[in-house]
Amino acid sequence: MNPIQTTLPGLTLASPLVLASGILGLTASSLARVASLGAGAVTTKSFGVEPRAGHKAPSILPYEHGILNCVGLSNPGVDQMIREIWAYRARSVVPIIASVFGKTVEEFGVVTARALEAEPDMIEANVSCPNVAAEFGVPFGADFGSCAQVTGIVKKNAGRIPVAVKLTVNCPAIGRMAGVCEEHGADVITAINTIGPGMLIATDVRRPVLSNLTGGVSGPAVFPVALRAVWEVRKHTTLPIIGVGGVTTVDHAVQMLMAGATAVGIGSAVHYGGVDVFQTINEGLREFARANGLASLGAVIGTAHSEPPPRGSGA
Ligand SMILES: Cc1cc2nc3c(=O)[nH]c(=O)nc-3n(C[C@H](O)[C@H](O)[C@H](O)COP(=O)(O)O)c2cc1C
Repeated sequence: MNPIQTTLPGLTLASPLVLASGILGLTASSLARVASLGAGAVTTKSFGVEPRAGHKAPSILPYEHGILNCVGLSNPGVDQMIREIWAYRARSVVPIIASVFGKTVEEFGVVTARALEAEPDMIEANVSCPNVAAEFGVPFGADFGSCAQVTGIVKKNAGRIPVAVKLTVNCPAIGRMAGVCEEHGADVITAINTIGPGMLIATDVRRPVLSNLTGGVSGPAVFPVALRAVWEVRKHTTLPIIGVGGVTTVDHAVQMLMAGATAVGIGSAVHYGGVDVFQTINEGLREFARANGLASLGAVIGTAHSEPPPRGSGA
């Protein structure tokens, strides 16, 4: 028995580590490379119906505690991504999650139906993108009604393929939002996307560095926020959770599991430690299981929610 094996609906993952969307997820070759180096599943870059250029450089800015990005959902569109997923499948048996977005609820439905042509193992609906139909383009994931509608249409169009909804903490209450997703058919919750947005200024030229002025914050700075979000999602739903946000160490991954995650997303850590991070954390997780006498890491999932042993019990 592989002690670090985990499951998501319809899938067995040899490792709980999942490549997060937006990192090395645009081409079959980069996805297959990450899979070969120890990811339990890989997620594509979010794609929409049409190709999209996104924001111009500089759009990614590492700083002491994390990364700011204003990439802006740049992607080659569903036609090209279907080809990439097929090409990936020819190279790897590691499960692949297709991350989709739309500017309207209807577009989410269309891109999901098209993505099925590539037969991904799961669809992940990225509801953190702005809803252009809403005033000021509020993200779908910030509004209970919009999030419910997107979840419903993606689930309907995904047929037998399981659906994850990727939530943001930029919403009234992420636990309740996850509950709404569960009611409307989600099979998995992925939490969280980048937070903020944030800004950094180049003091020499006295201007914000990023081309879009602001960008989503990821990396170690967001870890406690992501962990709290996973904890709240676990309190409000029974769905499996892919916990993502700031995980760079074995201890972070174990904390995510203890907060209630079934699998752990790895994104910005690839920028810091390279793709070897999957192998390094996998080895650390195996060692953690061995040192704690665990036949399966499943034994620690959600344990941070249980009551502490009574004082003086000797436990
Ligand atoms: C450069 C970059 C691009 C990203 N693009 C996407 C994306 O297309 N879709 C998505 O759902 N999340 C995207 N994300 C968010 C990540 O998947 C992840 O949720 C977030 O960065 C927090 O995890 P991390 O700290 O491990 O990176 C992106 C993050 C970064 C840094």
